[in-house]
Amino acid sequence: MRVKKLSVLMVIILAFSLFLSACSSSKDNASTSASDNSSNGKSSSDSSSKDVTIVWARGKDTTNATKDMLAAFEKKYPHIHVKVLEEPNDTGKQHDAYVTAFNAKSSAIDVINMDVVWPAEFAQAGYTLPLDRFIQQDHVDLSQYSQGALSAAQFNGKQWALPLFVDAGVLFYRTDLVKTPPKTWDDLIADAKQLQGKNGTKYGMLLQADQYEGLVCNAVEYLGSYGGAFINKDGKVSVDTPQAIKGLTELKKIAVDSGITPSNITNFQETDTDNSFIQGQSVFARNWPYMWADANDKTKSKIVGKVGVAALPSGDAGTASALGGWQMGINKYSKHPQEAWKLVEFMTGLEGEKIQSISGGSAPAITSLYSDPDVLKANPFFKQKGFQEAVANATSRPVAPNYQQISSIIQIHVSKMLAGQETPAQAAANMQKEMEAAMKQS
Ligand code: GLC
Repeated sequence: MRVKKLSVLMVIILAFSLFLSACSSSKDNASTSASDNSSNGKSSSDSSSKDVTIVWARGKDTTNATKDMLAAFEKKYPHIHVKVLEEPNDTGKQHDAYVTAFNAKSSAIDVINMDVVWPAEFAQAGYTLPLDRFIQQDHVDLSQYSQGALSAAQFNGKQWALPLFVDAGVLFYRTDLVKTPPKTWDDLIADAKQLQGKNGTKYGMLLQADQYEGLVCNAVEYLGSYGGAFINKDGKVSVDTPQAIKGLTELKKIAVDSGITPSNITNFQETDTDNSFIQGQSVFARNWPYMWADANDKTKSKIVGKVGVAALPSGDAGTASALGGWQMGINKYSKHPQEAWKLVEFMTGLEGEKIQSISGGSAPAITSLYSDPDVLKANPFFKQKGFQEAVANATSRPVAPNYQQISSIIQIHVSKMLAGQETPAQAAANMQKEMEAAMKQS
């Protein structure tokens, strides 16, 4: 009996202390949102806040964007200090580093950048905090975002991250060599063969053919431009089709058979592409929009002012770009969720995305920034119809908690095909079988 009374008392005490802590945290919330509404973002509540250091983990940024965004953030929130933890640029390796940390319930990281293909998996695994209550608390207008990017971070009816920028594959070319960018992949091969070696170039074309996530994105584009897809609009595996096989065949032709790429192209990721292109080594390169900022950065590029951006060439079904991009989310075990949220809110807000676009060349996820004169001055190609269409119609990869498994099946067989160990048709048949099995398990 006594034990029962004691436990009732303990429950009451616990409930009361939870109530008190809820009151104090909602007070915190109210004071932080009030500070946002002040004209300069600072208020007495900010200056009286205790100094807190949070850790923001993200891939290495080759542009100046992170530095410039943080300077603006720390000016607005002087009590929040941000340490950047640089993770590998290879998105798969970065993913694995987070999975290791979060499986160990580590609180060492507060905020992470998430590739568009991770939020569903991280939500299901319980690694990240749903952001809905923060979004409501600070009245964040979700309609300001590109809805494709926003929905990539939704899972089970909740918002697990907010879009930082969107990516769509584009064709970069040297304006001192190319008058009109090629319309089709076969035109690109012909132009590349004719131009490589001129004006200091060594190669005709660069792309990402290493066995990693970037290869999946490149493959999505080749398949799409021939009317194929790994997974169709109804969510069914659809890679063993004549259209997809045509796309795979063209990818192999460009990446390894035509003599227009470096001999080690099957080790190339985005950073290798970027380094080689800005050194002036290639006529064409497939990459994400950020390469514009690097290619026009006088401190490191040899081709400043000689760079054009166009939609990717077409196959017989038109042009297709892979939809990429990054989001920001919060570690469920963060000891500073409010401050972590402030960082997410700022970086994915108008001010953060604007700086990111100007200093980093990234395509904003906030659609109104495409008519911002400063953003357009820094990235004149945002005005091009081809670019806008590439972003608007970009092909997304499946939103699935077991996306990594699907991706690794694609990576393995496309790599085998590039190495000549499987024909395009064999690769397609193998992927079909293995992806169907993976989808059944999920
Ligand atoms: C870019 C894209 C990302 C993609 C990755 C592949 O970072 O934004 O979505 O997965 O490239 O390498």
